[in-house]
Amino acid sequence: MAGFPIEVAARIKTLPPYLFAAIDKMKQEAIARGVDIINLGIGDPDLPTPAPIIDSLAKAAKDPTHHQYPSYEGMLSFRKAVAGWYKRRFNVTLDPTNEVLTLIGSKEGIGHIHLAFVDPGDIVLVPSPGYPVYPVGTGFSGGVSHIMPLTKANGFLPDLNAIPKDVAKKAKLMWLNSPNNPTSVIMTKDYFKRAIAFAQDNQIIICHDAAYSEIYYDGKRPASFMEVEGAKDVGVEFHSLSKTYNMMEALSYQQAEDDLT
Ligand SMILES: Cc1ncc(COP(=O)(O)O)c(C=O)c1O
Repeated sequence: MAGFPIEVAARIKTLPPYLFAAIDKMKQEAIARGVDIINLGIGDPDLPTPAPIIDSLAKAAKDPTHHQYPSYEGMLSFRKAVAGWYKRRFNVTLDPTNEVLTLIGSKEGIGHIHLAFVDPGDIVLVPSPGYPVYPVGTGFSGGVSHIMPLTKANGFLPDLNAIPKDVAKKAKLMWLNSPNNPTSVIMTKDYFKRAIAFAQDNQIIICHDAAYSEIYYDGKRPASFMEVEGAKDVGVEFHSLSKTYNMMEALSYQQAEDDLT
């Protein structure tokens, strides 16, 4: 049977090459040339997942009550555990029934949230340099990224005053990321307070990516965006099990493979 030309959708053609895939290719080429490299690519913690997590995962996998689909929001027991962690870690009270959502990695939510809030032509405020999923998710929803440059002069924080007034008025959503990838800069509660006021003035949803909240030094514990008054009215915060507990799928598969051979 003769084939026919298969066209990918227009939105796929707008995609830039995924930065991490490009870096990975360059890395493999360098390794092949015998270069001794330091990997500054994807944030893939290289310590094993803690044994109690693996043990409990193995035990849970054998329990038939876990063999059906979970609820749409994820298991209530997990969401209660998240709310408990937020209380202990940040002294923030969350209602596990309607303020916590389980994702298959924070990337799923970070990539998809635009589809829920951004219409074609809407502006999304995106820090740069930054996690490439913010502009890619924006593009997938037909939105337009407005870059907030992170420079030495502004302490590597998005300069809210530098956002043109007409852009701010048109913007639908703003990405913040603390501790920041790649600069490592931590936002203070005072900065979050200013961002919330900016969001209120311009009716912008704040998406705070806190994937690296537990990676810090010298006792300088990063704050949660949710600790600041008014945060719940304007925003959402993303956390990650991969950075905090080394729970990467790839790692788990590798572990399983090692155990089997
Ligand atoms: C800034 C940032 N946010 C979110 C993620 C996604 O993490 P995960 O989907 O594993 O929770 C990453 C992963 O590299 C990241 O660097």
